[in-house]
Amino acid sequence: MRIAVLGATGPSGIQVVKEALQRGHEVRAIVRNPDKLVEKHDKLQVVKANIFDPDTMVPHLKGQDAVLSCLGCSPSWFSIWNITFYTDTVKPVVTALRRADVKRFIFMSSWYTKTDSQDPFFMTWLLKPLVLGQSLKNMGEMEDYLATECPDIEYTSVRAPQLSNSETTGKPVQFKEGQDVASSGRFICCRRDVARFMLDAAESGNFKRKCMAIASG
Ligand SMILES: NC(=O)c1ccc[n+]([C@@H]2O[C@H](COP(=O)([O-])OP(=O)(O)OC[C@H]3O[C@@H](n4cnc5c(N)ncnc54)[C@H](OP(=O)(O)O)[C@@H]3O)[C@@H](O)[C@H]2O)c1
Repeated sequence: MRIAVLGATGPSGIQVVKEALQRGHEVRAIVRNPDKLVEKHDKLQVVKANIFDPDTMVPHLKGQDAVLSCLGCSPSWFSIWNITFYTDTVKPVVTALRRADVKRFIFMSSWYTKTDSQDPFFMTWLLKPLVLGQSLKNMGEMEDYLATECPDIEYTSVRAPQLSNSETTGKPVQFKEGQDVASSGRFICCRRDVARFMLDAAESGNFKRKCMAIASG
């Protein structure tokens, strides 16, 4: 397959690039700073674009079978209550996908993007009020935008719990449609397993227009 990766210079994005290359795909990393991506491979092309400007992305998206996004922002303590990064970026990306005639879009988000009476205590009373609330809310708004305003986009939201850089055990990734897979007893996902799940979804065509919570097996 021809796979384009957004956020390829980040710690999850580079794992997606490596996993896709290992599976034999042709990979196009669309980044803002090509010098930052040191990975070299015959089937890897690194190109520069501005994620907020569809005109710069369209030529690089044309002919791609799927776009996998690991974009994320690292807000300072002063800006954590004002995060709009996810909706600000998904809109120009969708415009570019449409203009390039690419339908398949698989992106990272998080467990608990929606508020639910079933949320665990620590999420409702600690993490959301203290740090993660606006970030998760904005990821939920990104999911809502795709669900309600983009019927033509075959998206999959890959909802991760806390990420780690540990190696994959190689066991099957746990997944469930919904807010979490806490019932599996697994509350962490290594970034390589995120990459494995995203590539599995791209190759199989499964989980279209769904929000899938995952965790390492
Ligand atoms: N950390 C966790 O435990 C956790 C848990 C659940 C979900 N998530 C979500 O998972 C995703 C990946 O997280 P991560 O920690 O692996 O990666 P990350 O550090 O959030 O990676 C950010 C990536 O996005 C790119 N990016 C940011 N702003 C950009 C801009 N204005 N233009 C172009 N590219 C931009 C960065 O490019 P540069 O390298 O050029 O800066 C980098 O490649 C994020 O959406 C995060 O919120 C994280």
